Parts: sequence; structure tokens; C-alpha cells
Amino acid sequence: MPAIVIIGAQWGDEGKGKATDLLGSRIDYVVKFNGGNNAGHTVVVGNEKYALHLLPSGILTEGVTPVIANGVVVDIEVLFEELDALTARGVDVSRLKVSSNAHVITQYHRTLDKVTERFLGKRQIGTTGRGIGPTYADKINRVGIRIQDLFDENILRQKVEAALDQKNHLLVKIYNRRAITVDEIVADLLSYADRLRPMVADTSLLLHEALEAGKHVLFEGGQATMLDVDHGTYPFVTSSNSTAGGAATGSGIGPNRIERVIAVVKAYTTRVGAGPFPTELFDESGEWLRARGFEFGTTTGRPRRTGWYDAPIARYSSRINGVTDFVLTKLDTLTGLETIPVCVAYDVDGVRHDEVPASQSDFHHAVPIYQNFPGWSEDISGVRRFEDLPKNAQDYVTALEAMSGSRISAIGVGPGREAIVVRHDLLD
Ligand code: GDP
Ligand code: IMO
Ligand code: MG
Repeated sequence: MPAIVIIGAQWGDEGKGKATDLLGSRIDYVVKFNGGNNAGHTVVVGNEKYALHLLPSGILTEGVTPVIANGVVVDIEVLFEELDALTARGVDVSRLKVSSNAHVITQYHRTLDKVTERFLGKRQIGTTGRGIGPTYADKINRVGIRIQDLFDENILRQKVEAALDQKNHLLVKIYNRRAITVDEIVADLLSYADRLRPMVADTSLLLHEALEAGKHVLFEGGQATMLDVDHGTYPFVTSSNSTAGGAATGSGIGPNRIERVIAVVKAYTTRVGAGPFPTELFDESGEWLRARGFEFGTTTGRPRRTGWYDAPIARYSSRINGVTDFVLTKLDTLTGLETIPVCVAYDVDGVRHDEVPASQSDFHHAVPIYQNFPGWSEDISGVRRFEDLPKNAQDYVTALEAMSGSRISAIGVGPGREAIVVRHDLLD
């Protein structure tokens, strides 16, 4: 089963990094296909904790070839910083390949991200401020800069000129900022070219050849289903396709290569940034989940919004992504609760909705209909077999499985690499 996709089922931070790491030793290639350094994946290996942003989490596994594919937006300075930091900790990053078609995040993208957010005022998205949206906008507007442009100064200059022509009008006349010169951007980008050159490859061809040779290729999604620009809670989304389909367009493999789609889902729900969140808690249970789950952003450090598990969202994810397996994470965080509410449907202005409403206004007004499950108090972090979980924890998982549209194949019971209960082999 050569091509496997891992994506997030909710609003991000489900523990995708840990799930990728779990498959690590059996994977030959790990591919990031969307997003950029807006992602934040924490992976705990023994006493070591790694925070990855731009690089795929699979980079931590020895022998794996990490790939940054065409669908990613690359801040090259951040790329080098992450590579240097991992090298200093003894991680071998020498195999990394970067697509020549990936787009580049520049200083003006970062600046525009921040000023547009400021001008949105109350309506702001709460972006990570990393320049993600403006870089994807330029890609779609056909004024983006790609990795391959760094190797032809003439072309690079022309493209930066074309981009800045528009941007400087915006920056100076609307946002009251200083104009950015073509020279400073070109000089900055060219300064990366020599170090970058050996990493650059035709990654679509590379992955095709790997798949033909029967290698295992893991496609690791950044962000999550409800942050997808097409299928998420638009406009409170990121600017890329973070759903499973994005793995094909974002890497240049055929969709029929993908045989397994693994969705990572938390045993409750969190969200960073603005936008609708039906099960959000504003009382002490929300605080309790945040404290118990250490729910603070890996990228921006912002406190995450917290709420109960939302089964219609899991079902929606299952449908949109063609999920074959769920990895349910952070079950251990719920230990100690007397009852655990689960959202089974929504009430929208007096009408019951069993599925996520297609209309944004309906979703904004969705009030969760809860079913309560009895909790457990035993420490489950040392459990490795499903049968050894407390009966109420088993029942909670079985109930979620019945509501969520796909089987739950693994259950996270702690942050560490080994803290997992496997029910079905994810690669079998
Ligand atoms: P990602 O963006 O989806 O990779 O997730 P993040 O790394 O941003 O957030 C997930 C957090 O939960 C990280 O700090 C992980 O170390 C932690 N984590 C993952 N799985 C589990 C689990 O099963 N139990 C606990 N307690 N923590 C977990
Ligand atoms: P991982 O991969 C959680 C959110 C931001 C904001 C919106 C748009 O760690 O799950 P952007 O900077 O992408 O334009 O911001 O998307 N966001 C995330 N939330 N986890 C992430 O990544 C996120 N990446 C972006 O908070 O609401
Ligand atoms: Mg994260």
C-alpha cells in the first residue's frame, strides 16, 4: 500500500505530527503538500521535544526522505533555520528535496498578511502572520515567485518587479507603509540560491519513481479539514487545500495512487484564531481542557479555544477526505471528568441538523445537541491494549467510532511516541 495520506479532521493541532512519527520507521518518503510555516507539529521522542513548522514531521525518522512538494509555500529563511536547528540536535536532514514549483514567501507577503489583518479589525481571521494567504493569493493571481526563479536572476527580477508594481500601491497608498524595493527582495532571495540548489528537484517525478518502485510514501497535511479553503469554515480558513485531495494536486501524483487516508481527530475539539466553533466552551470546563491538554499554539503560543467532541464534524471529515482510519488522540486528557458530553447533531433556529450545515450562517447559529457519556478516573497513559482501557473509556471510543463514519484504528494516550493503543495496523 504505497501512498498514504494523513490529515487533520478538525481545526488543526489534532496531533498529526505524532501520528506521522508513529508510522515513521515503515515509511520511505514523507511529503508536505500544503501550507507552510503556519503549521506547528510537536513530536516527543523520549525526553526530546521537537517543534516543526515548515518541515514534515517524518524528517525525525532515520532513513526517511523528506519532500517539500509544489503545493507548499516556502519561507526560505525559516527553512534554513529549521534545518540548522535539527542538524544541531543530531537529526540527519541531508535527504530533503524541495519542489522547483513551490512558491516562495517573501518579506512583502509577511508584511501584507499583518497589515491586512490589522485593517480587518473586528473581522480579522487571526492568521499566524507568516505570509501564507498573500503568497497563495499571488500564486492564483499568477504573480508568484517560485523556487526555480531563484536560479535565473533576470527572470527573478522581472517577476519581483511585476509583483511589487501592485504591492507598493497597496502598501503605500492604502496601508500607509513604506514601499519595498525590487533590489532588496532580489538580493535577499538570491542570497539563498547556492545553499538551496542541491535540494531542489522535480519532486513529482521523484515520487512517481518511488511509488513505481513500491516504496511507502506518506503525505502529511498541514492544518485540517475545517481550515481547508474550499471545505472549511470560509472565510475563517487557511489559504490552501488541507484535505486529502490536496495531496494529489499539491504533489503531482495521481489521485488513484492514494490507498489509505488517515484522519487525526482529538477526543475533544480545539481551534486557534477566529471563526465558528459550535461546541466551544466558555466556562471552567473549557479552562480545564486547555490546562489539562496544554492547549497553546505551537506556532504562535496563542491559547487554543476548547470544546467537546463534535461528531458531525468528524463525519463531515470522513466524507470530504474519504477517511479509511481515524487516529483518536488525547483520550488521556479527558481522564478525571465525571461526564463527557459529545455533540451528536445541531439545533439551528429550532431545526435539527444531523450533518454540518452547508450554509455559513446556519453553521454560525448551530447550537450543539449533546449526548452525555460517563467518564473514568484511572490513569490510562500506560495502557497499550484496548481491552486494558477502563470500560467507560472503551465505550466512549466505541460510541465515537459509531458516530464518526470510519473506524478508529489507533488511540493516543499521551504525548510520547510510544503512548498509543493500536487496534488496526495503519499500513495493513
Ligand atoms: P499537529 O499540528 O496536528 O501536529 O498537532 P500539535 O503538535 O500542534 O498539537 C498536538 C499536541 O498534542 C502536541 O503537543 C502533542 O505532543 C500532543 N499529543 C499528541 N497526541 C497526544 C495524546 O494522545 N495525548 C496527549 N496527552 N498529548 C498528545
Ligand atoms: P497545524 O498544522 C491550527 C489557522 C490560524 C487562522 C487560520 C488562517 O499545526 O494543525 P494562516 O496563517 O494559515 O493564514 O491562518 O488558520 N491555522 C491553524 N490553526 N493549526 C494549524 O496548523 C494552523 N495553521 C493555520 O490560526 O485561524
Ligand atoms: Mg499544530
